[in-house]
Amino acid sequence: MRMATMVPQAFAVLLMAVIAMSWSGAVVDAKKFKKLEFYLHEQFVSEPGYPATDLLAASATGNTSTYAFGNLGVSEQVIREGVSNTSTIIGRAPGTFQPNKQYRTFALYKLLTLQTKEWNGTLVVFSDWASEAHSNEWTVVGGTGTFRMKRGYAINTKAAGGAGTPSITFLWEVYLY
Ligand SMILES: *[C@@H]1O[C@H](CO)[C@@H](O)[C@H](O)[C@H]1NC(C)=O
Ligand SMILES: *[C@@H]1O[C@H](CO)[C@@H](O)[C@H](O)[C@H]1NC(C)=O
Ligand SMILES: *[C@@H]1O[C@H](CO)[C@@H](O)[C@H](O)[C@H]1NC(C)=O
Repeated sequence: MRMATMVPQAFAVLLMAVIAMSWSGAVVDAKKFKKLEFYLHEQFVSEPGYPATDLLAASATGNTSTYAFGNLGVSEQVIREGVSNTSTIIGRAPGTFQPNKQYRTFALYKLLTLQTKEWNGTLVVFSDWASEAHSNEWTVVGGTGTFRMKRGYAINTKAAGGAGTPSITFLWEVYLY
């Protein structure tokens, strides 16, 4: 009989604690993010001073199309302060790309390695990326250096170049909590 009265009380206390935690969590998340912006420069074809940043590393099927499932690519794009291809280099983005079965989508992984006055370290990011979308979202998994213990998300948006040009440039907006 004693159990029957104890259990609902214990449950009510637990419920209040959970509500209090999720409420304060929401308040912290909304206020404490730091935003970081930069441009990722991807070069499809080498040009003087601008080596190609994406290379096909392996093809399971022999179909070397960028979009063929079974391919694995490596990339190391250049991170610049601005959209111009002469803007100051502040980092690099080594990673891999794998075309998915769904046409024109990729599983992407990158190490955003930055050196600025404020940030010095590496951020690990992943995305299920749609190449034709105007923008894509990435999960920020964590990092090193000044990015230690940081998490959040990033949005990349096409800023210049693309189809019919030798390069493409993306604005990255990174929200860190
Ligand atoms: C190679 O892969 C691309 C992308 O999936 C596809 O459009 C094309 O038909 C494939 N080519 C052959 C010869 O299978
Ligand atoms: C650099 O940007 C200029 C202006 O957009 C463009 O004309 C040029 O082709 C670019 N150079 C390279 C190597 O991407
Ligand atoms: C950035 O971090 C690296 C490795 O921790 C360190 O060697 C380097 O001096 C740092 N650079 C600046 C500008 O703080």
